[in-house]
Amino acid sequence: MLIPLILSGGSGTRLWPVSRRNLPKQFLSLSGDGTLFQQTVARTQKLPEVSAPIIVASEDHRFLAADQLLESGVEGASILLEPVARNTAPAIALGALKALERDPDALLLVLPADHLIGDPASFTNAVQQALPAARAGWLVTFGIRPDRPETGFGYIRRAESIDTHAFRVERFVEKPDQPTARSYVEDGGYDWNSGMFLFKAARYLEELGEHAPDMLAAVREAYATGHGDLDFVRVDAEAFAKVPDNSIDYAVMEKTSRAAVIPVSCAWSDIGSWSALWLSGQHDEHGNQREGDTLAVNTRNSLLRSHDRHMIATVGVDDLIVVSTPDATLVVHRDAAQDVKKVVDQLKASG
Ligand code: GDD
Ligand code: MG
Repeated sequence: MLIPLILSGGSGTRLWPVSRRNLPKQFLSLSGDGTLFQQTVARTQKLPEVSAPIIVASEDHRFLAADQLLESGVEGASILLEPVARNTAPAIALGALKALERDPDALLLVLPADHLIGDPASFTNAVQQALPAARAGWLVTFGIRPDRPETGFGYIRRAESIDTHAFRVERFVEKPDQPTARSYVEDGGYDWNSGMFLFKAARYLEELGEHAPDMLAAVREAYATGHGDLDFVRVDAEAFAKVPDNSIDYAVMEKTSRAAVIPVSCAWSDIGSWSALWLSGQHDEHGNQREGDTLAVNTRNSLLRSHDRHMIATVGVDDLIVVSTPDATLVVHRDAAQDVKKVVDQLKASG
């Protein structure tokens, strides 16, 4: 049984002021039809013999997730709720425990809820190519050809092939520093980790037990003492608070000897920042991307989005991002778009 596990617990702070604590980016319509979460769910529905998804989300977003699923017309999904965020390794462990209740041989397709994929057919194809390696016990990642020394991604070095499509991973390096990332891109033998994974639920828990036994024990405890109601599965808040915070990338993928990669060549973006959104979208003849009521005079390579009724007008500027909402306006240089999270940090610090 192939079960999609959709990770929807991120906060998307770099897309402030549109992405907010109560409405983070995965639940927003930023590009294309429906929200990023709904587009992710829709992609899974095209996979052959796929079962209903498991969603892992924050308790705070339970109605957003449930309503958006309903709107997508997807039935039978399980929504697991986290009382606090403990990053992706525990979230995936919760999903794996749930999946095993459905099928002891379950294959888990882990998908971040906040990615844009330009070519859904090649995504479907890649998942099918990954099935044999996953069934054979490999933890399969989907590798994207890097085109810049991005430091926010994991890098995967390919080794020999395992089967027709999959390669063994020689080395997995999560979020290298700038010089290291640059050397990997120049080397040519590295792919970006897309953050999507395919493996047997039982194999993931085995690996977690080997590399992060305390985390696995704490997650099991929180899951076992949790409870379900009509629509949601809630883990025990006190027990889940004791779970160590770590990502699958650091906790498992950097350590396992059973990682494999399927190279994927589709348009892919994790929409990590406003500049990533600008990069992934359509541009007019001046390189601008505009949404809502905007006017661009002598403006190039800029992203202008008005999410309220105010007009944004720019004159004689390049490489700028301007985003306005009813209660906040952001103006940032495209090169500094990663630092938007500092605004959110400062707002948090000042209460
Ligand atoms: N349920 C849940 N709980 N989901 C979470 C949590 C959590 O505590 N933390 C993050 N997520 C979700 C996010 O919403 C996102 O969809 C996904 O898990 C990945 O988390 P990110 O925080 O966005 O990870 P990242 O972008 O820094 O790095 C990962 O993705 C890159 C590609 O976008 C890594 O896998 C990198 O290796 C990879 O290159
Ligand atoms: Mg991300």
